[in-house]
Amino acid sequence: LISSAIAFKKHYKSRAIPKAGQIEGAKFEKGDGAVSSEVSEKTLDAKTVALMFSKRSTRTRVASETAIQLLGGHPMFLGSGDIQLGVNESLYDTTRVVSSMVDGIMARVGHHSEVETLAKYSSVPVINALSHLYHPTQILADLQTLLEIRQPFTTDLSSLSGLTIAWVGDSNNILNEMMVTYPRLGVNLQIATPKGYDLDAEVLERANEGIKAEGGKGKIIHTHSPEEAVKNANVITTDTWISMGQEEEAARRIKDFAGYQVTNDLLARGGAAKDATFMHCLPRHKEEVDDEVFYGDKSVVFQEAENRKWTILAVFDAFIGRWKA
Ligand code: CP
Ligand code: NVA
Repeated sequence: LISSAIAFKKHYKSRAIPKAGQIEGAKFEKGDGAVSSEVSEKTLDAKTVALMFSKRSTRTRVASETAIQLLGGHPMFLGSGDIQLGVNESLYDTTRVVSSMVDGIMARVGHHSEVETLAKYSSVPVINALSHLYHPTQILADLQTLLEIRQPFTTDLSSLSGLTIAWVGDSNNILNEMMVTYPRLGVNLQIATPKGYDLDAEVLERANEGIKAEGGKGKIIHTHSPEEAVKNANVITTDTWISMGQEEEAARRIKDFAGYQVTNDLLARGGAAKDATFMHCLPRHKEEVDDEVFYGDKSVVFQEAENRKWTILAVFDAFIGRWKA
């Protein structure tokens, strides 16, 4: 998927990927060769993808609609105010009806069980566009971004092995997705969450199974100290302290997360790597990261946001465009 996302980005935006010679000593490897003709194939020609979003979205929605259009398909956005779902019709009935008329569904839901139910009863592929538990398409964009900045001449994810990523923030869907993705690739995850915001036990179990299955190279370290989490980290990342649906807990959370703002002072105090990259899925608020870091020269947040489009394009192409019933 990531090599396909990189090829799509190259095809539609030739300035995106560094050329050999721009980085001293770098050699061409896989992923920087000729763009396959498959990239220009309109695999969603005459197809419709329903975007069933029960929560707000900027990046995922814009990435999805523009990606579907590039693949020759029609994006049908169905927000919670547009359809009967949740007001006048069950999820089961809605799934049966919508999937009988479209070629794929991308769904942003509240509880994770909703996207599982959709996937169970849909007659067409269902992609998770964020649930309370996971956000898979976000981490695909993060992987593409990490490759672009750390290993620009390969699409081989194993080249990321040995990196250390620090998470300073909430125990939420973005962290969960990182836990089930990074360590199995040999990437270490150093996590700081406040007391009372522990890691999800089932997610941790799934993460550990993944590490075992891949040979056990990446480590997960959990602490309540932001300084400890950023120690020697090559990448620093965080997310909002108040995820969608938690608005009523805002005051308590802001109090509980005191000392968790990512700042250059924290990175220096904790001993992060000097060239540590800053990443954030967005949307961002000043409380979790200050302007100096967020807009600083080590921040790749806008490249990361743009890569939502190229990775979602690869996902739609592979799982909806090329899907056979
Ligand atoms: N990162 C992300 O999913 O952003 P949106 O909520 O704007 O889609
Ligand atoms: N944790 C955030 C991610 C937004 C992309 C939320 O669920 O609201």
